[in-house]
Formats: sequence, C-alpha cells, structure tokens
Amino acid sequence: MIRSLFRRRPLHASPDQPEETDSHLLNRTLSVRDLTFFGIAAVIGAGSFSSMGQACASGGPGVVFLFVICAIACGFTALCYAEFAARVPSGGSAYTYAYVSFGEVFAWIIGWALLMEYSIGNIYVAFSWSGYFTNLLEGIGLHMPEWLTINYRSAHASALVGTIGEGLIAWNTAPMIGGLRIIFDLPAFAINILITWLVFTGVKESRNASNIMVVVKLAIIGLVIAVGLGYIDIDNWTPFMPNGFGGVMAGVSAVFFAYIGFDAVSTLAEESKDPQRDLPRGMMWSLGICTALYILLALVLTGMVSYTQLNVSDPLAEVFAIRGVKWMLFLVSIAAVVAMTSVMLVFQLGQPRIWMSMSRDGLLPPRFASIHPKYKTPGFSTLVTGAVVGIPIFFTDESFILDFTSIGTLFAFVLVCGGVLILPYREKTHGRFHLPYINSKFIAPLLGLVTLALLVTLDPNHFHRALGRTGGAPNIPLLVFYALCVVLAWFSFKKSWSLIPLLGLVSCCYLLTGMAVSNWQWFGIWLLVGLVCYFAYGWSHSKLATKG
Ligand code: ALA
Repeated sequence: MIRSLFRRRPLHASPDQPEETDSHLLNRTLSVRDLTFFGIAAVIGAGSFSSMGQACASGGPGVVFLFVICAIACGFTALCYAEFAARVPSGGSAYTYAYVSFGEVFAWIIGWALLMEYSIGNIYVAFSWSGYFTNLLEGIGLHMPEWLTINYRSAHASALVGTIGEGLIAWNTAPMIGGLRIIFDLPAFAINILITWLVFTGVKESRNASNIMVVVKLAIIGLVIAVGLGYIDIDNWTPFMPNGFGGVMAGVSAVFFAYIGFDAVSTLAEESKDPQRDLPRGMMWSLGICTALYILLALVLTGMVSYTQLNVSDPLAEVFAIRGVKWMLFLVSIAAVVAMTSVMLVFQLGQPRIWMSMSRDGLLPPRFASIHPKYKTPGFSTLVTGAVVGIPIFFTDESFILDFTSIGTLFAFVLVCGGVLILPYREKTHGRFHLPYINSKFIAPLLGLVTLALLVTLDPNHFHRALGRTGGAPNIPLLVFYALCVVLAWFSFKKSWSLIPLLGLVSCCYLLTGMAVSNWQWFGIWLLVGLVCYFAYGWSHSKLATKG
C-alpha cells in the first residue's frame, strides 16, 4: 500500500503522452513568441494593478527588495521548470514533473495545489477585473447598481462595521427575495463566462486574443512608467523601509501573486511546435520581461506618492488621481481590464490541461481527458474550470484568496525545485535546454555561513526575536526554515547537489516563511480534502495501478 503511493511515472515513456497516431492529438500551433506572450499574459494582471498597492502600503518603497527576492525565487524555479519541461514535454505542468520525480501521491497533491493557483487565483483576478471595469463604466457615465458590483461577503462585512462606501450602499439598496439580499459581482461572473467560452472554442482563437491583449497592456504599462517617472518625488523614498524588513515581508503574498503565471507556459507543451526547445525559452523570456517592468512600476508608484496612500484596490489609477493626471485614469483602467482578461484567459487554458493529464493517468475520470471533436480543446475540463471559478464568485471575497493562492503556488514550486535536485544526470542534447550543473558541495555551506555572519552583524537581535525572547511569539515558520537550511547544506555537502535547484528550493521556502499561521491551517485542510479525493478515486484507478 505505502509503496503504491510512491509509484513513479517513467521519465521518458509517460502514459499521458498519446501515440503520434492518436487522433486525439491537440493542435501544435504555438511558437516561442506565442509562449512568451502567454507567459506575459498570465503574469501581469491583478498583482500589478491591485495587490501591489497593499504590498507598498505595508513595506514602503523597500517593497522593491521583495520584488527582487520573488524574482530570484521565480527565476531559479523557472530554470527548474525548464529542465523538467525539456525532459517531460507534457501538458501537466508541475503535476507531471512531480509524478516522474516524487511519485503518485505527491503528483496528486501538486495537481491539487495547482488548482489553487489556476482556479482560485482567477477568482481574485475576476474580482479585481470587475473593480476596474466598473471604474471604466463610470468614466463614460454608466453607473451599475452597487449590489451588482460587489460580492455578498464584502458587502456584509461593510454593513457589520458600518464603513461608508460601496459595500454599505450595496447592503442598503439590494433587492430582497424571501429575506435574502441579492448581492453579487455581475461583471466578475460575466467575464468568467466569456473567458470560458473563448477557451472552449479553441486555443488558436485564444492565442490571437491573448497576443493582442499583451501588446495593449505592455504599451500602456510602458506609458504608465514613462509618465510616472516625471512625477517622482525622491522624498517619498525616505525612509525606504518605514516598517522594517518585517513590513516588507508582510507583502509577500501580494508581491508573489504578481509573479504567478510564468509556469502556465509549461501546461501548453502539447500545443507547442517544439516543446523541448520552446517551453524553456518562453518561460525565461516572459519572466525576465515581467521582472524588469515590476521593479520599474514599484519604484514609480512609491516615488509618486507616499506609501501610506497606496492601500487601495486600484493603486495605479490612484497615484495618477492624487497627482492630478486625469487623462491617465482612463488609459490605466483600460490597461487593467485588458491585463486581467489575459491573465484569466491563460489560467483558464492551463487548468483543463492539468486535469487532462491527471485523467490520462487514471487519477481523474476519463471525461476530463476528452477532447472536443470540433474545437480540439479539452471541452469537459474547460467547462468544469469555468464552474470552479464562477460558482465561488457568489460566495467568497478577495481577503484571503491572495494568501491561499500564493501558498499553494509556492508549495508547487518547492516540489518542482526539489524534484530537479533528485533527477538523474542527463547527457546534453543539442538544441535542448540543459540546466547548468554547478556543484554546491562547498558553495552551499559557505553561503549559509556568510548569511549567518551577515545576519548576526547587521541585526544582532535577529535570532532572539525569532525565538520569541524579546517579548513576541516565536517565529515558527522562520525557525523551521533555518533548520531546513542546515539539513540542506549537509545534504549538499554529502551529495554534491546542483546549486540552481537548491537555491530555488531555499528561496521559495524562505518566501513561505512570510505566510501567516492561519493560511497554513487553511492550506492543510485543503490538502486533506485532496487526499480524501485521491483515496476515493485516483489510487485505485491509476494507470500504474491497473498495469500492476
Ligand atoms: N500574476 C497574475 C496576476 O497578477 C496572477 O494577476
């Protein structure tokens, strides 16, 4: 029984790879440029247009350090994704990678965690989309009733505390049916229906729509940066970290959310012309471009106004409103709507393809792998994804979705980096991506010692604080992280591990230390539910089980 949980899919002959003669093959139409565009389409969205404000408000201008840390973590992880994608050209993303390296139960867990990245994350994006869309409508003189532009829980929360604003207006003006107030976010729901239809009808059509949206959003973000640079007041950058590094780290979910998406490229393996060559390139290009834009954007935002004014849901519009640049407001709202539409499009393309892989492996019912005869897309999975995003729009709010999505994604990244660490050596093949091997035997312990020396020198109370000896509670996630670093340094020394995946693993684990204990609890419950589903169906139906 225990051994069957860790049965691994063979690296080369993966069961979810259909035979070349299989009539169910997806259309192979995507090039490096398309994949890069998909990456950018997935990455730049609600993170930069909404949650960045929250991160700036807690960390001040020093939030740029967090953007750099997240970029480093994502960069190392992208290299690991690229290594896996070059070896396993399949559409299951981190799910497939975990299957070949860690075994079935881990693969299931990661597939389950990715559901948070791709579907739950899209709920946040849909809410943010709705906010900017209604701004846009207001801009042209169209007003939607508040009870149709906010979710029920947010309106209820506003009514309870009596905060004057959209929530309270919605609560007081909503029509009632049988004692129940009718309050829901209609634009968020409508955009989900539209995206589901677009994705259902074909990847080629989706690609064309996505490429146009990426061009529009890059052009307007470039304009935001160019115009914003002219309004920077360098006094706003002092103090650089008003709430210390703790304040910066408090924004980890919001900042990391902005980076989520580059890995979605790897779910398109079966639709790319040459997955071994093109997937790694597409991921690295999209990550590099987005990182450069984020750093510039964060510097512009925190330079234009005081960080204290940025705790709003539409920070990019807010800075221009505060500085009186009215003509930019409309453009920013258009860019936000376009950017978030493309994020939703890519995520809703990615999720069904993960389910398709899981279904081909027998871990989900066969219907999840069925390909629509006319559109050549995973039709059933696409519709289920639309429901998974659309239904919670009526019942949830944005407040904890950010953390929930970020924790699940980071967890997936940790498993991907860990998976590359234990993959067997592979000879270089001309034309394929190959992760450079740098022996960490001495570098890892040395890096650990240098970091320790720096911490003790620059912040003598650091370990006292972490242990809770200065009055506060012990920082359990941080202490676990330090213990993990010692273990990893030891293994690196003994096994001469490859440095790049090791650094990816350590940096993602570090970001996880920024998550609150309550998020860990929710995440734990989520994983538990996932395991119940696995044992109820996947364990006995797995292709590896039926093969014996
Ligand atoms: N990175 C994506 C966004 O910011 C999830 O919307």
